[in-house]
Amino acid sequence: MKSLVTRLRAFATAASLVALLALSACGGGSDSPADPTSANPAPPATTGASALAWQTVGRMGPGVNFGNMMEPPQEGDWGLKVEQSYITAAWQAGFRTIRLPVRWSNHAEPAFPYTIDPVFMARVESVVDAMLAQGFHVVLNMHHHRQLDGDPLDPGEFAVSESDLEPRFVGLWSQIARRFALKSERLLFELYNEPHGRLTAQSWNALAATTLQTVRISNPQRLVLISPVSYGNTSALGTLAMPNDRNLLATFHHYEPFTFTHQGATWIPTPPPVGTPCCNAEQLSQIESAITHAKAWSDVTGYPIFMGEFGANSMADMASRVAYTRAVRTAANARQIAWAYWEFAAVFGVYDPVAGQFRPELTAALLAP
Ligand code: GLC
Repeated sequence: MKSLVTRLRAFATAASLVALLALSACGGGSDSPADPTSANPAPPATTGASALAWQTVGRMGPGVNFGNMMEPPQEGDWGLKVEQSYITAAWQAGFRTIRLPVRWSNHAEPAFPYTIDPVFMARVESVVDAMLAQGFHVVLNMHHHRQLDGDPLDPGEFAVSESDLEPRFVGLWSQIARRFALKSERLLFELYNEPHGRLTAQSWNALAATTLQTVRISNPQRLVLISPVSYGNTSALGTLAMPNDRNLLATFHHYEPFTFTHQGATWIPTPPPVGTPCCNAEQLSQIESAITHAKAWSDVTGYPIFMGEFGANSMADMASRVAYTRAVRTAANARQIAWAYWEFAAVFGVYDPVAGQFRPELTAALLAP
């Protein structure tokens, strides 16, 4: 079972949008203000993303998360492993992007040079290769580094010394980046899933910038996704300082209305009660408002933004899940925001792994015209 995760799912507020616009007015969120007294002034504030980033996000098509497979403490611990048949089925259904959550922290030496277990590295590489060979865009991330967020560890996890924690995060990315450096440009890296807790906006902005510099040594051009803190909530986008690099995308997660999507969710401390339907006018407005906020951020900063997770727990009734899923997809598509549904075959699953087939109503809500 997953450990308890304290959720902070704030709604996008007018105040945060004002802060965002103010931040962009002084440099698009860049953290490198020019110093007029210096002979070598800091580089100009970034002007947004490259043509490659915009073209890629336009090509990513409908996406799905291969969740609960490689991000448990060990692959299979939560009942699923990546199977070639899943990759083939996802492509045949019409998905064109797979986001692959991976827990690296549990598969590396605790001390410098933080060597990743070669067997695990080879397994992740073989999965990524199979997805790329199928034709997918693949978003490879780092997921559930519990200690980095200050969360309780999962069973089977180990802690590292506080002084190694962030150098190890960078060291893991250095190894991942080198290993995948020669892969297709359809492979994207996402630095970290849902930063929160111990990671404040300030500390995360600094860690993300350092990590990106390390990734750039071996992958000067590869597209990299960065999430804001507060679990990737759009209300925190205004605090995200995009490093001065044009091959970047931002990413956010959208689980509003949370009382609907997470009803009966066993992995959170106080799950909302089961029985909430979707979607009335207020719920539809919650769905729209996070996506509107993400689009406004993208327009102001010039970076594409990817909706890396949305979905509803199977404790909700199917008709409501279908209505919710269609509403989120429609709102995102209307604003050219690419997305990945959470997730393929576990508790939010669009695919029934026991029957070996897609759940037709949910699949249609995601993929039918
Ligand atoms: C986040 C968590 C994942 C959870 C999902 C839905 O991605 O990392 O574990 O299942 O949100 O709550």
